Amino acid sequence: MAFDLEYVRRALPGRSVEWHGSTPSTMLVAAQRLEEGAPGGTVVGADEQTAGQGRLGRAWHSEPDAGLYFSFLLRLGLALSDLPVVTLALGVATVEAVSAVTGVICDLRWPNDVLIGDRKVCGILVQAQGDGLVCGIGVNVNHREFPEEIRSLATSLFVASGRTYAREPLLVALLQAIDHHTELLVKHGRDPILQAFSRASSYVQGRRVIVDNGATRLTGTTDGLNNAGYLMLRQDNGNRTAILAGGVRPA
Ligand code: BTN
Repeated sequence: MAFDLEYVRRALPGRSVEWHGSTPSTMLVAAQRLEEGAPGGTVVGADEQTAGQGRLGRAWHSEPDAGLYFSFLLRLGLALSDLPVVTLALGVATVEAVSAVTGVICDLRWPNDVLIGDRKVCGILVQAQGDGLVCGIGVNVNHREFPEEIRSLATSLFVASGRTYAREPLLVALLQAIDHHTELLVKHGRDPILQAFSRASSYVQGRRVIVDNGATRLTGTTDGLNNAGYLMLRQDNGNRTAILAGGVRPA
């Protein structure tokens, strides 16, 4: 169904929301808007991305009309050292919004993969640029199937619940939850976000995982988040290490 941009604009008066039928990546358009001086909160979405970007240089599968693909600008005035917690805040906001609109309860895998069971349903990307952040969220909403190469890794809200969902109310709820959690971070500091993430994620404590960052591979048991928002890993050799980046998966 055609995306009802007016619904979103009515629900979020005063916010700049731009929508494309097809674009290589909403990250590129949003980066351009940041460069042009667009305010925090600006949203760029698309029905289809022909070169959707994922974390760690991967691609993001963006089947036309089936998912919600959008980027937005944050100008929070926070230090770069707060960036990992901004990332966590977006994950918490996404899980809350998805649950409020669809009733589907998702898990969070550090730093911000949104999962149903062990399959990914939403991905979140955060890129620092100049004095702001370009963030992107992809939600697999009504996908019925996935390409062979990600079939065992991905799911959608439709596959998980047997129901289809309108994208517009989901986008509105996501943007409101993002506003709420980023304001919480700016006003009250990192602790509420660290606590909310730890509550929402089965990965934060006591999970056997492999952490792969391309160059190294560590195996151990997760042991909470540190104050900066990094995942602590108790390695099998006894060392307790902060994971700064990389992919986390069950061991
Ligand atoms: C991940 O790999 O988990 C992050 C995926 C982020 C995908 C979204 S879809 C909207 C925005 N545009 C992109 O090209 N990527 C992000």
